[in-house]
Amino acid sequence: MSSSKEIEDVSDLSRKLLQAQEEERRRITRELHDDTGQALMVLRFQLEMVLGEAENNEQKTKIQESLALLDRTIEALRRIIARLSPRVLEELGLITGIQKLAQLLTRHTGMKSRLSLPAESASLDHDLQVAIYRAVQEALHNVAKHSRASTFTVRLAVSRDKAVLEIEDDGVGFTPRTAADRGFGLKGMQERATAFGGSLKVRSHPGKGARVRLVFNLEEQGNHTPAGKSLRRASAA
Ligand SMILES: Nc1ncnc2c1ncn2[C@@H]1O[C@H](COP(=O)(O)OP(=O)(O)OP(=O)(O)O)[C@@H](O)[C@H]1O
Ligand SMILES: [Mg+2]
Repeated sequence: MSSSKEIEDVSDLSRKLLQAQEEERRRITRELHDDTGQALMVLRFQLEMVLGEAENNEQKTKIQESLALLDRTIEALRRIIARLSPRVLEELGLITGIQKLAQLLTRHTGMKSRLSLPAESASLDHDLQVAIYRAVQEALHNVAKHSRASTFTVRLAVSRDKAVLEIEDDGVGFTPRTAADRGFGLKGMQERATAFGGSLKVRSHPGKGARVRLVFNLEEQGNHTPAGKSLRRASAA
């Protein structure tokens, strides 16, 4: 059996990997934004100039089609960048970040949302906030992609020793046992929860909606930053 020291080492390692992954995502976001995004904007500008010089309708139509495709590509790139980078977390915090994710889904699908969130999340460790944000993002992505639900719910409850996140929908549901091999979403959520000494439970039946529940352990891992722990950290630094 694994000792608690071994378990601690493994979740420490997973957290470091998640941190490295977030750092890598920030780098990719920067490159996509500064290089690819800029290049597409220059291309757009040049195409517009060429459009002004078009000699006949046939040429005009082709350039307009290219411009339309380019606009869709720029829009798609914006969405990729927004998904990659949780900048909203740094700027607006976890709670607003979750509200924004829910709004986005509501706007794109017409689904109704119900949110039950704490007033603020400042006491949670930053890495844990990223993990929770990513889990909500992934779970709502699944709701959008698979559920055909009319309503979804996001609940986050933070107590002294744990944070419990639930995302539920009233859609078509699935059989969790056979679903895990289909993609990376549920696996990723499981890894995030484990990295914070927690767990993932999926409850769903075909035709009966779906609920994912992640529990993050706040006590042992320094996932909380109330006065005591930040003092300890500060003095260890
Ligand atoms: N809310 C949901 N409603 C209905 N089915 C779902 C829901 N969430 C997940 N599933 C089912 O579980 C499967 C596995 O989900 P998972 O997120 O791991 O992978 P994916 O969404 O298929 O691919 P990826 O997340 O890698 O893009 C899905 O293919 C889908 O069949
Ligand atoms: Mg998925």
